[in-house]
Amino acid sequence: MISDMGMLDHIVAHSHQVCRVSLLLADHLGIIGIHRELIGAAAILHDITKTRSFHTHENHAETGAQMLSDLGYPEVAAIIGQHVRLNRNAPAAGTPTDAQIVNYADKRVLHDKIVPLNDRMGYILEKYGSTEERKNQLLILWNETQLLEERIFAELPFCPDAIIKLLPDDKLGDFHQ
Ligand SMILES: [Fe+2]
Repeated sequence: MISDMGMLDHIVAHSHQVCRVSLLLADHLGIIGIHRELIGAAAILHDITKTRSFHTHENHAETGAQMLSDLGYPEVAAIIGQHVRLNRNAPAAGTPTDAQIVNYADKRVLHDKIVPLNDRMGYILEKYGSTEERKNQLLILWNETQLLEERIFAELPFCPDAIIKLLPDDKLGDFHQ
């Protein structure tokens, strides 16, 4: 699918990193079986329509979800559809959902580098906060993601910054074939 969609290399590299972060979190949260598989699949495919969106200006979270749904993968679609912004009914407490893990992981990867949340959100604010209204929406998203981070790491034996050390930058080459 990634090659069929003509994904740009840097978006493939980004997706690979989001997948690594997602699976690291899933593994340490004790998520196994089908949920781990869904998280991995959704993370690697979360930006499947992003390259195309540069020309079409489509909402890539929505169209990526639609694509996976049309292909018969509604559970993967549901996670992809929430990678930019979570659904309103996403639980605000308890163990994070598959969608929340991938959503958070995407906010820890700037281009192809794993970074602190504030670096990624600062970049998003600068790039997409062109109007006052948009800026305010993004600040709300930033705040919501901070709360999600606290919730995820309340269940983990390491702090958010430790992800960078736990996933050294040495495996990108494996993905490029
Ligand atoms: Fe994305």
